[in-house]
Amino acid sequence: MENKPKIIQLPKILDRRGNLSVIEEWKEIPFKIERTYWIYDVPGGEARGGHAYKENQEFIVALSGSFDVILDDGKERQTYSLNRSYYGLYVPKGIWREMNNFSTNSLALILSSTGFNQEDYLYDYEQFKTFIHA
Ligand code: TYD
Repeated sequence: MENKPKIIQLPKILDRRGNLSVIEEWKEIPFKIERTYWIYDVPGGEARGGHAYKENQEFIVALSGSFDVILDDGKERQTYSLNRSYYGLYVPKGIWREMNNFSTNSLALILSSTGFNQEDYLYDYEQFKTFIHA
C-alpha cells in the first residue's frame, strides 16, 4: 500500500489537433476509482479541505487553472502547486489536506478510492493527530 504523497506524471498524447491525457485505475494511480468529483467556481481567497480521511485515498488534478494543495502527515507540511492537466497529486489516507490559492476559472478533478462517507472524515486537527499515532 502506498503511503507517501506524490506527484504523478500522466501520459500526454501530443497531437496538433490538441493534446490528450488519461488515467486508468491501478495503472497511473494505485487504487480503484469509486468516485469522482470536481471543485469549481471557487471565489478568490477561499480555501477548501481542512480535514483528513481515515480510509479514502485521492488523486487530484488541476484540469484547468491552478491551485495549491497543502498536505500534512502530522510531522511535516508540504505545499504542492498544481497547474497542468498532465500530472496530479496522489494523497494517501491519513493525511491532513487543505486547498487554496485557486486561480480564476480553476477546475480541480478529484478521483477517490471510496464512496462518500461522512464517517471517514477527520475534521479536527487534534483528532487527526491522535488517529495517525494510534
Ligand atoms: P468537503 O469534502 O468538506 O469539501 P472540501 O474538502 O473540498 O472542502 O465536502 C463539502 C460538502 O459536500 C459536504 O457537505 C459534503 C458534500 N460532499 C458530498 O456530498 N459528496 C462528496 O463526494 C463530497 C466530496 C462532498
